Amino acid sequence: MGLKKNTSELINLINTKIINLDFPETPSLLYQPVKYILGNKGKRLRPILFLHAIQLFSDLKEIHFIPAIGLEIFHNFTLIHDDIMDKADIRRHQPTIHKKWDENVAILSGDAAMILATKQFLSLPEKIFKPVITEFNKMALEICEGQQYDMDFESRQSVSVSEYLEMIRLKTAVFLASALKMGAIAGNATTNQQQQLYEAGINFGLAFQLQDDFLDSFSNLEIFGKKPGGDILEKKKTFLLINAFTKSSEKQKKELSALLDNTQISPDEKITAVKKIYTDLSIDKLTKTAIKDYYTKGFLWLNKINGYQAVKEELISFFQEMQQRIS
Ligand code: IPE
Ligand code: IPE
Ligand code: MG
Ligand code: MG
Ligand code: MG
Repeated sequence: MGLKKNTSELINLINTKIINLDFPETPSLLYQPVKYILGNKGKRLRPILFLHAIQLFSDLKEIHFIPAIGLEIFHNFTLIHDDIMDKADIRRHQPTIHKKWDENVAILSGDAAMILATKQFLSLPEKIFKPVITEFNKMALEICEGQQYDMDFESRQSVSVSEYLEMIRLKTAVFLASALKMGAIAGNATTNQQQQLYEAGINFGLAFQLQDDFLDSFSNLEIFGKKPGGDILEKKKTFLLINAFTKSSEKQKKELSALLDNTQISPDEKITAVKKIYTDLSIDKLTKTAIKDYYTKGFLWLNKINGYQAVKEELISFFQEMQQRIS
């Protein structure tokens, strides 16, 4: 250690450490699902951000990988419960835990994952443990708040763009922002540097969820690894649906509402019809523009930060790649 690591070196180390995590053998229905979801590789975004943020200000140490893995475990916990709430059958090209096993298994293995996640922070030196865990707890509760708004909005007729943005700030953006900020704290950054990184993370996080909403409608299972159209079927108030309602004529509004409530047509027919409205109204282009704008804001914040130049460049190219993501 001591040297700076590039993103692919970090990913390899993160994945190796996840594979080597030691779980008790029994009860197998508690731990096996946790192992399963962690083994189905995701992008490992949050530990990458945490580790890059540390080395932006100081040297990486072996010990930093433990809370980094904690963040990934926590992320996977949110996904386990999110998939029950969203009735999602596939994630990372594999059956979700409540499908492969059942809902009770998913609830309890999710709880266990959450506890195992927070345990990883105990390895931090005492001086930084308290500020890091304080930030972590704030973020974790905000995710719950965002997830509740997401649920509340499913049954609401109208949701404004600003309500939507606040909901995704809470359910998604604060995690990216806090991962960066926790890294900055662990790397002994100044309060100002911590805050700048947090603001960058919020903007990248908003862009990231907007992309996720876009891909939920416009990607396909083979690439995305999640079943597209799930948001449409669940009447999620995504940026796409909200804007479709504001941009449509009275006639189209009625058509769209009726379509979302229609139980006579097949899910595939419903998804195709809603997507047609989206493209007719150029909602796809509008969403792409919003994504670009938030990335631009994120880069402005990132560029302001005074840290090791090579790491800053690595973070910039990481987010440039994220901007192009299709899965
Ligand atoms: C999925 O997160 C949940 C969202 C916030 C959209 P990721 O897209 O980071 O999921 P993985 O970990 O790469 O699968
Ligand atoms: C998920 O948002 C946010 C959290 C898991 C907290 P989504 O519900 O859109 O994420 P995916 O699409 O299932 O990954
Ligand atoms: Mg969800
Ligand atoms: Mg979901
Ligand atoms: Mg989604």
